[in-house]
Amino acid sequence: MRIAFASCMTSFRFPDQSAWDEIAARQPDVLVLLGDSAYYDADGASMSQVKSMSAHDFAVHAHGRLARQIARPSFQALVAQPQLTTHAIWDDHDFLWNGACGAEIAGQPHLSHLIPPSRAVFAAYRKALAARLAPGSFPPAPFMWDATTPEPGYSNVALGQNVLLHLTDGRSYKTRRGRKALLGAAQMSAIEAACNAADPSTVHLIASGIVFDARNGETWLDCKDEYGRMQALAMNHRILILSGDIHDNNLASYRLTNGRFLFEATSSGAAVCTAVTVGAEQRNWGLLNVDANRVGIEIFKSGVTQYAGSIDRATWT
Ligand SMILES: [Fe+2]
Repeated sequence: MRIAFASCMTSFRFPDQSAWDEIAARQPDVLVLLGDSAYYDADGASMSQVKSMSAHDFAVHAHGRLARQIARPSFQALVAQPQLTTHAIWDDHDFLWNGACGAEIAGQPHLSHLIPPSRAVFAAYRKALAARLAPGSFPPAPFMWDATTPEPGYSNVALGQNVLLHLTDGRSYKTRRGRKALLGAAQMSAIEAACNAADPSTVHLIASGIVFDARNGETWLDCKDEYGRMQALAMNHRILILSGDIHDNNLASYRLTNGRFLFEATSSGAAVCTAVTVGAEQRNWGLLNVDANRVGIEIFKSGVTQYAGSIDRATWT
């Protein structure tokens, strides 16, 4: 089974997005989009513009950005592949704006009106991806949005070969700088329950918008409680975090206090510059090759392998 993963694409600065052609050539079975499928607050729009929008104007704006992404021919050709199933989570830029924390915004009436349209647009995007972007699967403009659409929240999907993909919602419950919460206690408990209910030999892929460990920017390190809970989970389960956000790639292993490992594969910047529209052009994506014995990892930058590794499923080393 081949599982491709990627994140961070913007369709104005990067209308062609050839990373999707590279992924399509490998004919993956699964594609995981790890957030920032559009930049609502960049590449021709700004954070202050977004913050001053009415709910309706923001719905139109966000819908237009994702519609434009969906219309990229390379993206469409990949997602339409008949063997492929695509799953997407959101991060800050396809939620609201850079660093936006749902738990803070919910308490600010001059901003909280933007959350319902954002949820509705993202739910429509997920629905269209599930339909392999078949014509009409993404609603046309003007976008008629349902103000009662729930947040994406947590869900998981069995991918086969005893691999469970955990899709997290890293924005709805996040507090300022993640100090109190990243995913929030309920979502952490749901992940733990799913891991404990699964066969002990299951490989758990945790899809996370933000990286587990970083020297700057958003990271799980900001939230001691959830960082510790994820480490504790990895002491008893085979966990590989897939993350995005940083407009770069990384492959990391964390040795835990009981001698076991937590692994993280990061690929961010499918079609974006280092600073969205400024800096080096990124063409990054990753691929897992899963069989009964191992999880092979390749992470590509500009068409060449930047990182490669392999995890033994039995020993998780
Ligand atoms: Fe990004």
